[in-house]
Amino acid sequence: VDEKTQALFDLYQDATKVYHHILVNTQTGEHALNYLHDRGLDDATIDAYMLGYAPGDDFLLNYFQNKQVDYQLLRTSELFVVWDDGSLHDRFSNRLLFTIRDERGRPIAYSGRRLEADDTQPKYINSPESDLFDKSNELFNLDLAREPIKKGKQVILFEGFMDVIAAFQADVKNGVASMGTSLTIDQVHLLNRYADHITVAYDSDAAGQNATKRALDLIQQNSQMSVAVAHIPDNQDPDEYLRSHDAAALADVLLKHTENPIAFNLRFLKRGLDFSNQNDVFDYINQALMLISSIDEAVVRENYLRQLADDFNISLEALSDQIRPMLMQRQ
Ligand code: GTP
Ligand code: MN
Ligand code: MN
Ligand code: MN
Ligand code: MN
Repeated sequence: VDEKTQALFDLYQDATKVYHHILVNTQTGEHALNYLHDRGLDDATIDAYMLGYAPGDDFLLNYFQNKQVDYQLLRTSELFVVWDDGSLHDRFSNRLLFTIRDERGRPIAYSGRRLEADDTQPKYINSPESDLFDKSNELFNLDLAREPIKKGKQVILFEGFMDVIAAFQADVKNGVASMGTSLTIDQVHLLNRYADHITVAYDSDAAGQNATKRALDLIQQNSQMSVAVAHIPDNQDPDEYLRSHDAAALADVLLKHTENPIAFNLRFLKRGLDFSNQNDVFDYINQALMLISSIDEAVVRENYLRQLADDFNISLEALSDQIRPMLMQRQ
């Protein structure tokens, strides 16, 4: 890399160290450290993930100015916001910091979480893109997860930082997150370099399920990876599920009880439908049949048809009649 880029890497390295120091060694960081402990993170994890705390009062600016770091370097780093008068101010204040590392483990950005329940502030503030940080091309945790992914040929895709970290602590080390932004084709290609199989483990709330639908389609259209969905029970996210159960239960949900795309899509089709209403029932059956007609293997198709027949107490014959034209259409 050129000199200027290296200087930026060094700056982020330095910032990460001092933010981490504030978190683990000072009174200023104590409540943030307690917060992490309360959320079940141990000190080894806090170190491994280079978590930090950003105090207020332009702490980082003062830190670098005392070291006589060049103004232009600070200005282009995106660690600061620039006011109209040209003055710089810390981008992150009073926030817990998740350090975003590139594939080689170098810090390139942060995501800052507020600690207070205060809803007037966004829960997370992310670094904007910079010379180091190209959002659409990075995946949180790929540096630590890469070897485990290559070894098992399998990756787990999470929604949030805390989900990746919770899984890591539960000894599921092949997890990455797309960092709140929706998954990109570049990220899919990146994962396809290391994995043959991907499990999508987004939150089980409506937002997470919609994002899952989109991710499944994107992965199936842009990679050779086989896909599964880990459906987290009880409307929780993986981190919440770990806290309300245990590591073995989380590993089970992520690795054992996964759904194939057809099963996910059938469940997804049911959203918002009311099966006491006959129109909803017929709508669902019709859409389910379209989905089932896309399956190549006749035996697998028949299996889903039987399930559908059982679920709605309809004859297999009627379903077979109704799916026939859809199958013809397919050819
Ligand atoms: P915790 O509440 O700390 O467990 O976070 P979470 O990961 O469960 O948050 P959530 O499911 O609400 O969001 C998932 C991901 O979306 C987060 O990890 C962030 O990357 C992103 N995100 C959530 N809230 C915000 C926000 O207010 N602003 C931005 N820019 N991103 C957000
Ligand atoms: Mn980009
Ligand atoms: Mn969510
Ligand atoms: Mn979540
Ligand atoms: Mn969460």
